[in-house]
Amino acid sequence: MSGTQTTYNDKVVRQFAVMTVIWGIVGMLVGVIIAAQLVWPELNFGPWLHFGRLRPLHTNAVIFAFGGCALFATSYWCVQRTSHARLWGGPLIPFTFWGWQIIILLAAVTLPLGFTTGKEYAELEWPVDILITLVWVAYALVFFGTIAVRKVSHIYVANWFFGAFIIAVALLHIVNSMEMPITLTKSYSMYSGVQDAMIQWWYGHNAVGFFLTAGFLGMMYYFVPKQAGRPVYSYRLSVVHFWALIFTYMWAGPHHLHYTALPDWTQSVGMVFSLILLAPSWGGMINGIMTLSGAWHKLRDDPILKFLITSLSFYGMSTFEGPMMSIKTVNALSHYTDWTVGHVHSGALGWVAMVSIGSIYYLLPKLFGKTEMYSTKLVTTHFWIATIGTVLYIASMWIAGVMQGLMWRAVNADGTLAYSFVESVKGSYPFWAIRWLGGVLFLSGMLIMAYNMFKTMAGGKTQDTPVLAPAGHHA
Ligand code: HEM
Ligand code: HEM
Repeated sequence: MSGTQTTYNDKVVRQFAVMTVIWGIVGMLVGVIIAAQLVWPELNFGPWLHFGRLRPLHTNAVIFAFGGCALFATSYWCVQRTSHARLWGGPLIPFTFWGWQIIILLAAVTLPLGFTTGKEYAELEWPVDILITLVWVAYALVFFGTIAVRKVSHIYVANWFFGAFIIAVALLHIVNSMEMPITLTKSYSMYSGVQDAMIQWWYGHNAVGFFLTAGFLGMMYYFVPKQAGRPVYSYRLSVVHFWALIFTYMWAGPHHLHYTALPDWTQSVGMVFSLILLAPSWGGMINGIMTLSGAWHKLRDDPILKFLITSLSFYGMSTFEGPMMSIKTVNALSHYTDWTVGHVHSGALGWVAMVSIGSIYYLLPKLFGKTEMYSTKLVTTHFWIATIGTVLYIASMWIAGVMQGLMWRAVNADGTLAYSFVESVKGSYPFWAIRWLGGVLFLSGMLIMAYNMFKTMAGGKTQDTPVLAPAGHHA
């Protein structure tokens, strides 16, 4: 065996981990800017830096750049450790890193220039779509190639979730991006009308289910037991959790299209599957939180565990809220309002960002040959700032959202509308200002993380660690 085969490939994990923090700052900065544009409309400059163009830049940057890099870093770390094998794939491995960074840069240039397919979360034009497909296939080969050369027969549950995320995202991306190129920068969807809408929200909802959930559940199943120093609460529950979640998510997309031209029965199917989705979601959350049983005291002074466990609480909250919002009568109030935006960010900030931040804090010292972060105190400070920021964001959006919904449907005795639309906009301003403040806090936490990260990196050793012999218990 050559020397490199006896060590893990930590280089690519290091690259993705550092870029997670950098892209987190960039994506959230754009979030803070668009939040400010809603409060102070004068901040909309020219066509390039207008809200309409920066909003998709925000969503692409936080989901695919920040979330994506976090998923690459953690899945590559986890699959090697739990397979007792070095990452398989040779040149495909750096291709996934550099390819993904190029895609992000292309997004950062093309979206402000106004090149877009117009499909939410799938805005990038066809040449970038092709590059995404190539990188994703390489990712699948590296991940499943490593599983294939594993030295233990068992495939740890975290890898099931990472694997499902990789396969499902490939499927979603390819089917939803079927388009006819007209020029280098413009294409039209292969689907039209209501079929297009249905495919788009099958994609959109499963982007939530697989990109923003399944992969992060992989993180939960690896990093919570690691950081808590306890085995997963229930392996049996994890198997039920996996299959129930994977099966149910695929059907819930139509809840994004209530009261549209989509056939009514399809909307009802989407609603029913969304309600069922509460059970596997909470099963997974309980499995994560109960992993701490017997080790609750560790929460008191371990800020990494605080991030991980708090993320699970927000996951529980957003997956309770989602099914409620999918009920047609509730959706009649919530749709088009800031309630949706609040729901999105309780999942995005509270769950996705917090579980990623916790996992990256776990990885950073190990990746740079240190025993812990430069400052644990600053990790604790980050935790509190991020939590307060998230609460400010989602609470203000709940209030604004319900207020907007109620104002839009209020009628006078003679049947005329009680409020004009602009009155609801005026009423929303204080809440948009509070949301902006919440965002500023969350972003400040990320800046503290970057400082702590660079201090941890300074003078660190970047040697790959040896592959462990597959004896005894592992996870
Ligand atoms: C059981 C789980 C969940 C269900 C049933 C659910 C359901 C819903 C519903 C009904 C909407 C509003 C659709 C509309 O009126 O247009 C929505 C929007 C959304 N949810 Fe969830 N949700 C769940 C979990 C999550 C989680 C964990 C996240 C994030 C990590 C998330 C992210 C989103 C996003 C991004 C949107 C906005 C989509 C858009 O219109 O652009 N959801 N969800
Ligand atoms: C500093 C933190 C953040 C701030 C200030 C922020 C701000 C915003 C704002 C102002 C919008 C537009 C809302 C509107 O159109 O009315 C938005 C949309 C969105 N953001 Fe964020 N955001 C932040 C972090 C994140 C993160 C970390 C994620 C995902 C991991 C995320 C995902 C989204 C999504 C999916 C939407 C579209 C929602 C929809 O269409 O309903 N955001 N954000």
